[in-house]
Amino acid sequence: MLKNFWYGIEVSSAVKDRPVSVVLMGERIVLYRDSQGRIHALGDRCVHRGAALSAGWVEGNCIRCPYHGWTFDSRGECVDIPANPRGLPIPKRGRVTTYPVREKYGFVWLFWGDIAPAVAPPIPDFPQFMDPQLRCVYGQYTWQANFTRVMENTIDCSHTMFMHRKSLGNADDAIIPDYDMRIGEWEAEAVLPISIKRLVGLWRWISRKDAKTERVYRVCLPNITFIGLKFDHFYLDTFVISIPVSPTVTVSKWALMRNFLKFPFVDEQTRKVGVRLLSEDERAVKTQDPLVCPFLNNSTDLLQASDGTVIAYRRLLKKCHDLGWWQEASVPAPLDTPSNLTLTP
Ligand code: FES
Ligand SMILES: [Fe+2]
Repeated sequence: MLKNFWYGIEVSSAVKDRPVSVVLMGERIVLYRDSQGRIHALGDRCVHRGAALSAGWVEGNCIRCPYHGWTFDSRGECVDIPANPRGLPIPKRGRVTTYPVREKYGFVWLFWGDIAPAVAPPIPDFPQFMDPQLRCVYGQYTWQANFTRVMENTIDCSHTMFMHRKSLGNADDAIIPDYDMRIGEWEAEAVLPISIKRLVGLWRWISRKDAKTERVYRVCLPNITFIGLKFDHFYLDTFVISIPVSPTVTVSKWALMRNFLKFPFVDEQTRKVGVRLLSEDERAVKTQDPLVCPFLNNSTDLLQASDGTVIAYRRLLKKCHDLGWWQEASVPAPLDTPSNLTLTP
């Protein structure tokens, strides 16, 4: 994974009055809200004897460990050890790591790195979240796949006709016309036409044969991908944060925004379509070899012009690697178990 970036790690509404645990590449982190509703992020390991603080509870501006009641404030300092006689000072090592956190776009963002967050790349602008015409639905999906491969999949323009041939792909029209990439300092974007044959779910409502269509793919380091679909004046935008949990597990959380059919019953259908599409993708993404996309040296892949978004993403990864911002996962993980080991004769 990359360091020195803000990572979208949770949906804001998931952090209520109880602590929530998240894992970022094997690192356990607890999120909680204090009495003023401000969010805090601490290492999710009590310094006493290692219990998860996320199994405890919030008291005022502090979080209390459930095991022996040690209590930590939002700066990570231990402020109470109930079993110690009153007046005994708290040991110097009585503190846990804290992480800068903030909320934006209905998500919680955590800064992971060793430079000052103020000089790090900012959370990019997504004006869609300010548009009162868009109805926003949140959803999530857990992949048994590597984070970099998931990121690539969600901006891949040429797989729809194959991985999604049963849902929305048009296998008769697989050609991807040349397209331009807009490359920013920490992001890239491509705009293409849409070709869809089978219509499921929402598509049935909004797409007509002669509609003027456009799809936008945008990737922003470290973990945002965005797919914007336009059918005439209908918009369907998907903003995704993909969280590297381990080398082989990634959680994607999304906000799906639409400016049509804004009834609550459509929300559930929207969520189902999202999960279905990602589970179709996962069948291929979890088998990709090597595990991490080969962004330093593409010699194991044979990239084509249609892979332009993927090429741009890999260039951005390489740029960060050259800055010393790439962190190897400490645990190498195997690929998915081959099916010939699990099939019974
Ligand atoms: S392990 Fe947390 S108080 Fe003992
Ligand atoms: Fe897909």
